[in-house]
Amino acid sequence: MGRIPVYEPYLKGNAQAYVNECMTTGWISSRGSFISRFEEAFADYCGAPAATSVSNGTVAIHLALVALGIGPGDEVIVPSLTYVASVNTILQTGATPVFVDSLEETLQVDPASIRAAITPRTRAIMPVHLYGHPCDMDALGAICREHGLLMIEDAAEAFASRWEGRHVGTFGDAATFSFFGNKTVTTGEGGMVLARSDEVMGRCRHLKSQGVSKEREYWHDALAYNYRMTNIQAAIGLSQLEILPEIVERKQAVAEAYRTGLANLPLRTHDPVGPVTHSQWMCSVILNDAAHRDALRRHLAEAGIETRPFFPPAHTMPHCRAEGALPVARSLSARGINLPSYPGLSPADTDRICETLKQGLLALGA
Ligand SMILES: Cc1ncc(COP(=O)(O)O)c(C=O)c1O
Repeated sequence: MGRIPVYEPYLKGNAQAYVNECMTTGWISSRGSFISRFEEAFADYCGAPAATSVSNGTVAIHLALVALGIGPGDEVIVPSLTYVASVNTILQTGATPVFVDSLEETLQVDPASIRAAITPRTRAIMPVHLYGHPCDMDALGAICREHGLLMIEDAAEAFASRWEGRHVGTFGDAATFSFFGNKTVTTGEGGMVLARSDEVMGRCRHLKSQGVSKEREYWHDALAYNYRMTNIQAAIGLSQLEILPEIVERKQAVAEAYRTGLANLPLRTHDPVGPVTHSQWMCSVILNDAAHRDALRRHLAEAGIETRPFFPPAHTMPHCRAEGALPVARSLSARGINLPSYPGLSPADTDRICETLKQGLLALGA
């Protein structure tokens, strides 16, 4: 039986034709019509006024933070249960990440933990829509309004996720997305930034392209970056948006197959809670007992099924170690497994995965 990876891009539709067009026309760098077409289609889908493309989801966060003026002396509140890029980019601005806990049920940042972490130096909060489930945007919006805080949504994992029907990424002062090869929509490597105000969007565009002056050639009026996306990446991205309904539908079918196939076991699937559309970027299971997690992953691996553990809490890593128990983040991190989650999985694949997982739990006496 074949190996089942944890993710595989779904490169159907016009991907190849559009990439060939870049090759034959010579528009392979960061100029070319696919860039604006992809940015416009992305902004439209999200219901955002504009979007600017960048070379990956990490620089997207860094650019958003810098464009919002976050820097030394500022504190940015971020969940410890996230991918390290959320934290590294805060550190790279010279600001201090302040780690907070997550909620058991949704895996998302705990609004009460945020409130408890606010100090006079807090400038911003960075909710991360982990594994595709939206954070509680009503509670987070209220905290920002009450305390005059900025919000940067790290929506790297949450394209096609919605809170009360509104796409994530349209709630914050700025928001960022990733198009890495394992994301719901991919460009190989790539990212996007949304911003609430024209002014912040203008700063993002200026800073991502070496801070070049509009009036004078080779004149750079700010310390800036080359964070641009290429036309080839945008060509792939546009082709992905054209088949998005198919991608989303297939991913929902995979999640549903796990929900039914893994019912009544000593675990739960990561289901939507509250007024949300959960894109199911990852189909996660949270075991009742952390002691079984690694052995179960080994059992799946021996059967050719690749999985991923949940992220380790960032505040326990050497370069960003911080005080704080954050018990929910620690517990979730120890119990979580991400199962194969890609659109091309067949019902036979998900049946095989559920069956192997059940046998694994049985063998462990769980
Ligand atoms: C929550 C989160 N933030 C940021 C990133 C960074 O995106 P990229 O890998 O495109 O740099 C990722 C990537 O997986 C992520 O999961």
